[in-house]
Amino acid sequence: MCGIVGIVGNSPVVPRMMESLKRLEYRGYDSAGVATLSGGNLDRRRAQGKLDALSEKLSLEPLDGTSGIGHTRWATHGQPTEPNAHPHMTEQVAIVHNGIIENFKALKAELIADGIAFESETDTEVVARLLTRELETGAYPSQAFQTVLARLEGAFALCVLIKGEENLMFGAREGSPLVVGLGNGENYLGSDAMALAGLSNHLIYLEEGDWVELSRTAVQIFDRNNQPVERQVSISQVATTMIDKGNHRHFMQKEIYEQPTVVAQALGRYLDPNAGTICLPDMPFDLADVPKVTLVACGTSFYAAQVARYWIEKIARVPVDVDIASEFRYRDPVYTDGGLAIFISQSGETMDTLAALRHAKVAGQHIASIVNVTGSTMARESDLVLPIYAGPEVGVASTKAFTCSLSVLASFSVELAHAKGTITAADVAEYVTELEHAPALMAKILSKDHEIEAIAQDIADARDILFVGRGIYFPIAMEGALKLKEISYIHAEGYAAGELKHGPIALIDENVPVIGIAPDGGLSDKTVSNLQEIMARKGKVILLSDNKGSIAEDMHAHFEMPSAGDLITPILYALPVQMLSYFAAVEKGTDVDMPRNLAKSVTVE
Ligand code: G6P
Repeated sequence: MCGIVGIVGNSPVVPRMMESLKRLEYRGYDSAGVATLSGGNLDRRRAQGKLDALSEKLSLEPLDGTSGIGHTRWATHGQPTEPNAHPHMTEQVAIVHNGIIENFKALKAELIADGIAFESETDTEVVARLLTRELETGAYPSQAFQTVLARLEGAFALCVLIKGEENLMFGAREGSPLVVGLGNGENYLGSDAMALAGLSNHLIYLEEGDWVELSRTAVQIFDRNNQPVERQVSISQVATTMIDKGNHRHFMQKEIYEQPTVVAQALGRYLDPNAGTICLPDMPFDLADVPKVTLVACGTSFYAAQVARYWIEKIARVPVDVDIASEFRYRDPVYTDGGLAIFISQSGETMDTLAALRHAKVAGQHIASIVNVTGSTMARESDLVLPIYAGPEVGVASTKAFTCSLSVLASFSVELAHAKGTITAADVAEYVTELEHAPALMAKILSKDHEIEAIAQDIADARDILFVGRGIYFPIAMEGALKLKEISYIHAEGYAAGELKHGPIALIDENVPVIGIAPDGGLSDKTVSNLQEIMARKGKVILLSDNKGSIAEDMHAHFEMPSAGDLITPILYALPVQMLSYFAAVEKGTDVDMPRNLAKSVTVE
């Protein structure tokens, strides 16, 4: 979602801010803008759409200045038009904002009653107008900023420039992440380490309620009570080079094909193949004592949680609750004393997942997070962090983070089972061997991409597509449907195969493809019976399985999967459903990496 960059610098800032905004593109946005201070005066350029549109404006009407702020906006209040794009400005101040000012209507009414006019529909403009009013009373900039912060409710990260103050910038964090970058004769603000990757690797992650005053040579941080505070400096590991697509047409394609490599990397951190053991980081609690596991996440990470529930319950025999993060805290969950709450998030910043984490923390649960971004807020607020080592994921539709999260969750489940005594050391060693085989099998599946591409091209015109599976493959069916609708805009649903007769089968006719996920063994016979019911109603069945069995004759298509052990099979079946969505989207010509209306990092509720 919205991305922020700010530079209090000593050389022209616009080209560097544009680089940073490019790095922030992955978060998802629909307009962008920059503002600078030049000769003491503020000026800005903004554009609807992608950064190219902003670059074009800047080449026609360049902006000078050695201090500036930039923003990519994902619309919340008001459409993604130029007037609603950030920075929001008065003659006195320029502001960029990520998050939502919840009391903006009351504040706006107050300002309008005071004779102040507005030019956008955004909540952010309220902050610019409030700050201007404070400055006009003669308050010092820092005093005015404190007064305004005290009036704001909601979640926000702010970055502010003030007329005539080229050596000054303010930032504030309340609910949305903001990072300070330390430079040499310059200082920076950014939404995340990625925004600052080309500028600084010495970072300070602001804490909730913090605000910061930056000059070229000094950074002073204050807490929510306006007391000066010291915050730890960390060294960012994010690569400074721009992440590129290599020879791939899309980031999503690159990330799909990287999976054998990154899954091997992730497993390499958690498995000791020689000893046949799982190595988890030191824990501040004993796994053997965990009475219950609560898994919470959003989107694709939520489906990883759903898969993990089957592993943990089946292998470790520990009861598991799985929740969508946006629902979790509102259902007033019943916690078990000593319970372990695990939060799964590629970004580690998803607002609902973070709020759920804090809810569980207040309730005294042990907090673990499974994240890709190790400097993220969730990682910093957890008792235990299990990184997924997927490397930067840029495509909005998550792919490699899903299989890496699953690899970590599978390893964790096995270790939990071992700690609980439900499996022996010899069983652990067998699972380790099985996990080790996953990357090679993934590569084998990817090598048959042309087969999946043909199937995808065949179904790309469908209006509705169903994905069905049973047991641990039910969440894979839901993930397949999510992927497809995210990037190809085809309506898709994932169902438990046995549930079809309770409603969805009414949708079936010769125009509705049904993707059946049915690895041999386990519940596959039952899934195949359900697929037969679909074929009896002329539905086009496409089977993903290592055994085409008795329905071979009547199927519309079959993608042959390799046979594998039960633990890794769900990880393997993620690949064909990802490829199916990818190729269907390519066939339809959609914007695969930045699908409409979606953001990579969802930092509002
Ligand atoms: C967004 C993305 C999804 C992602 C979800 C959760 O909706 O588009 O791909 O699965 O957020 O993100 P997280 O970073 O918490 O895993």
